[in-house]
Amino acid sequence: MAHHEVERFSAGARLFHWTVTITAIVLAITGLFLWVPAFGSLAEDSYSRIIHRVAAVILVAAPLLFFISRPGRALHFVKYIFTWGKDDIEWLKAAPDYYFGGDEKKMPPQGEMNTGQKLWSLVAFLSVIGFVVSGAIMWFAKASIPAELFLWVTIIHDLCFIVSASMTLVHLYLGAIHPRMTESLKSMLKGKVSVEYAKHHHGKWYAEISKGKETDNKQAPSTH
Ligand code: HEM
Repeated sequence: MAHHEVERFSAGARLFHWTVTITAIVLAITGLFLWVPAFGSLAEDSYSRIIHRVAAVILVAAPLLFFISRPGRALHFVKYIFTWGKDDIEWLKAAPDYYFGGDEKKMPPQGEMNTGQKLWSLVAFLSVIGFVVSGAIMWFAKASIPAELFLWVTIIHDLCFIVSASMTLVHLYLGAIHPRMTESLKSMLKGKVSVEYAKHHHGKWYAEISKGKETDNKQAPSTH
């Protein structure tokens, strides 16, 4: 059992993650009522449309609040997910074998997010932008744009859903179920991982935060 732990996600980051998750689930359910013809009767009352719009406002407000409260952290996240290098290519090559039980030593050491997590973050980030821009056009500009353009905007909204919902399932599996990600869900609930887990899963990050300290230092600084 691990006695020494390091912080991986601050309380603010966890609150933000679960707020976005609940909002995304509400948006997906109420969106499906509007999208799938067989559920059409459920969207006839206007409640699901109103709830969809309220949730959309939260999806915009939550990142804005996070940005206002922790601008440095938010910018660091955006910069991180857009920075790709040789290690990421190496990770992508090694990952299939690793996730199907292969030798962990073949995996290149990872930063605070591994390449898969970075890819997911990028997809989530771009999908939210796609949802918000296309959703805002549908909400506010329906009457003022040509019908054909409106149709294209709905298709973009739908494509964002198809991509992000499929990736959310992969994210859920890797974050909460995969047998190698033993402390992943715990870290998003309680904020911390054991030093052992940090060394194995985020070797480069652990080396950075423990620089100049003893390897098993309980007080390794927070990075989130
Ligand atoms: C469906 C339920 C979800 C579960 C159970 C879940 C679980 C998790 C867990 C355990 C982590 C930490 C992974 C790690 O670093 O070890 C995480 C991180 C993250 N989650 Fe989720 N999540 C869910 C939904 C979402 C949704 C809907 C979004 C965005 C729209 C999202 C975006 C992220 C991002 C950007 C990260 C940081 C990158 C990463 O570590 O993968 N998550 N999530």
